[in-house]
Amino acid sequence: MVQIHNASFRYSGGEGLELVNFNVDPGEFIFLTGDSGAGKSTILKLIYMDIFPQTGHVIVNNYNSLNIKKREIPFLRRKLGIVFQDFKLLHDRDVFANVAFALEVTGTRKRDIKRKVLRVLAEVGLNHKRNKMPRQLSGGEQQRVVIARALVNEPFILLADEPTGNLDPTATAEVMGLLERINVRGTAVLMATHNIQLIQSQNRRIVTIEKGIVK
Ligand SMILES: Nc1ncnc2c1ncn2[C@@H]1O[C@H](COP(=O)(O)OP(=O)(O)OP(=O)(O)O)[C@@H](O)[C@H]1O
Ligand SMILES: [Mg+2]
Repeated sequence: MVQIHNASFRYSGGEGLELVNFNVDPGEFIFLTGDSGAGKSTILKLIYMDIFPQTGHVIVNNYNSLNIKKREIPFLRRKLGIVFQDFKLLHDRDVFANVAFALEVTGTRKRDIKRKVLRVLAEVGLNHKRNKMPRQLSGGEQQRVVIARALVNEPFILLADEPTGNLDPTATAEVMGLLERINVRGTAVLMATHNIQLIQSQNRRIVTIEKGIVK
């Protein structure tokens, strides 16, 4: 479902990735780890096709970085759930509207929007906060709203870039538990983190990247 084959990428400053190879199989849970600046976020950017490899190719479902058209990229991204460390919620609207937004942009009917948003908010345990504004939530709750928003289009994979980076241990454990439940239901998870302790506490496949090279 995700194949990264001999992909390399250099930013104009000269840093980047060298010949990265790895696959994510359906339903897998992978930690992507490595020091700050190693290239974790760059790998995620290759997968959601924010950047394109300068050698090799990246295949995501039936899209290939070698021949995907610009207008196809939004369709690819609808099949991915993307979660960043800094929550990126819309602060002028409530929790329900933040999640609904992800469906409105894909042209979902109003009736279906309500049903899907309530279902996914229940899944992350935040139905009772659906009318709150983001600033009325804790950091952990805000991150769970972001995850709900990422899930509402039923992605086959969740790409999470340091999703617990700003959270305390309790909120981190909640978010990890949520990612596990999502994974058990069949959604693959690729989570970038440099939190070694967190990784060691889980029995998962680990892809380590050092200075742009997959170890
Ligand atoms: N837009 C950019 N322009 C130039 N260089 C960049 C750009 N983005 C990242 N880099 C460089 O590429 C390398 C890899 O960056 P990347 O963001 O993938 O690292 P990371 O593993 O995600 O690090 P962190 O743990 O700090 O998030 C770094 O040396 C970084 O400075
Ligand atoms: Mg990063």
